[in-house]
Amino acid sequence: MSKLAIDGGTPVFAAKANVPVWPPADEKTAELLKEIYLSHAWSFYGKHEVAFNEEFAAYTGAASCAMMANGTVTLEVAMQALGIGPGDEVIVPAYTWIATGTAVVVVGATPVVVDIEPDTYCIDPVEVEKAITPKTRAIIPVHLYGSMADMDKIMEIAKKHNLYVIEDCAHAHGSEWAGKHAGTLGDVGSFSFQQSKTIASGEGGACITNDPALGEAMGRISHIGYQYGAVQGKATEPPPMGMISHNYRITEFQAAILRSQLRTLREDTEFRARNAETLRKRLNAIPGIKVQSPGRRVSLQGYYQYAMTLDTAFLKEGITREQFCAALRAEGVGCGPGGWGDLMFRQRLWSVPEELYRVVSYKTAEKIVKEQLITLSLNWLMLSEEETNKVADAFEKVMAEYGR
Ligand SMILES: Cc1ncc(COP(=O)(O)O)c(C=O)c1O
Repeated sequence: MSKLAIDGGTPVFAAKANVPVWPPADEKTAELLKEIYLSHAWSFYGKHEVAFNEEFAAYTGAASCAMMANGTVTLEVAMQALGIGPGDEVIVPAYTWIATGTAVVVVGATPVVVDIEPDTYCIDPVEVEKAITPKTRAIIPVHLYGSMADMDKIMEIAKKHNLYVIEDCAHAHGSEWAGKHAGTLGDVGSFSFQQSKTIASGEGGACITNDPALGEAMGRISHIGYQYGAVQGKATEPPPMGMISHNYRITEFQAAILRSQLRTLREDTEFRARNAETLRKRLNAIPGIKVQSPGRRVSLQGYYQYAMTLDTAFLKEGITREQFCAALRAEGVGCGPGGWGDLMFRQRLWSVPEELYRVVSYKTAEKIVKEQLITLSLNWLMLSEEETNKVADAFEKVMAEYGR
C-alpha cells in the first residue's frame, strides 16, 4: 500500500489535474460581448434574449421560455403566475438551497419541508403525500445536482390532489427523464444560470413551460407587464388588471454568453455523463461509498455536482468524513463535504421566522448532509479518461488506508 500524500507520500496527481476553469470563457464570446456593448442595445427583449428563449425552449422541448434575472425570482414568478400566495402551502425538500423556500415566503405562501430519498437525495414522494393538507397548492421538487426527483410519482400525486408542480431545475440543465428534459414534466421548470451552474452567465434564470398562457404570464410578470417581445415604451397590450409585475429582466450580455454555452450543452452533458459512469463503476465498488443515483427513469443526467455518500461506519475509528476529504485533496482531487452544509432551514442565511414555515420530516436529509455527503464540482467530470481513472485511484488509495 502506498503512503498517503497527506502523510508525505507521492500524490496520485503528481501533476495538477487538468480541471477546466468554471465558468468557461472563450475569445469568440468575448468578441460578441464587445459587439453588444458597442451596439448600445443592452436590454429589453433584445435579439439575444429572444433567441435564447427560443433556443432553450427548443432544446428542452418546452412551448416557451422566459429569461429572468436569476433562478430565485424565476420560482417567485412561477408561483405568482400560478396564483399561489397567502394562505397556500408549497411542499419543498429539506435539502436544497434556501431560495427554494424563501421564494415561497416572498409570494406570501408557506413552505412545508419534507425529507429526501436516500439514493437520489431528491424529495421523497412518500413524504410529500404525507404532508398534503387542504391548503397545499404546489410541490417544488429540486433535481439536486442533476439527479432527478421521481417525476412519475410526483405527477401522480399532483394529479390526485390537484396540485401544481414547479420543478426547481437550478442544477438540471441537460437532465432528461425518459427522454423528456427536466422542467417539462411539471407545470413550470425553473432554471438558474448563476456563475457556478452548468450553463452560466454570472447571474441569470429562466422559466420554461408547456402552457403558452402560463408562459405569457411569466414573461409579463418578469417584464413589468409588457407582452412578449415588446419594444420598450410600447406596451401595446397592457397586462390584465391585478397582474402585479416586476422588473426581473436579464441583459443581452448574459443572453449572449448563454447562447454560446447552449450550443455545446448536449455534447458537454454526454461527455460528463460518460466520465461520471466510469467513476460510478469504480467508486461504487469501494465499500462504504455510494454514488448518488440519477433517478429512476433518468435517461441522461446533466451533472452539476458529482455527489456520493461515505458511510463512516466503514472508516477506521476516529477518521471523519472531513479527514477523508482532506486526504483526497492532498492526492490532488478537489472534493469536499459538499453542498450547503446543512438543511435548507438551518443554513446560516435562512432568516425566515419559525411561524412562516412548517417542517414535516428531514431525518434522511440530515444524515446525508451532516455526516455522509461528498461532492466534486462538474469540471471534475471534464477530465480525460486516464485522469478520471486517477480520481478513482485516489479514492481507492485513501480508503485502503482509512477504511476498516
Ligand atoms: C436548488 C436551487 N434553487 C434555486 C437557486 C437559485 O438560483 P440563483 O442563485 O440563480 O438565484 C439555486 C442557486 O444555487 C439552487 O441551488
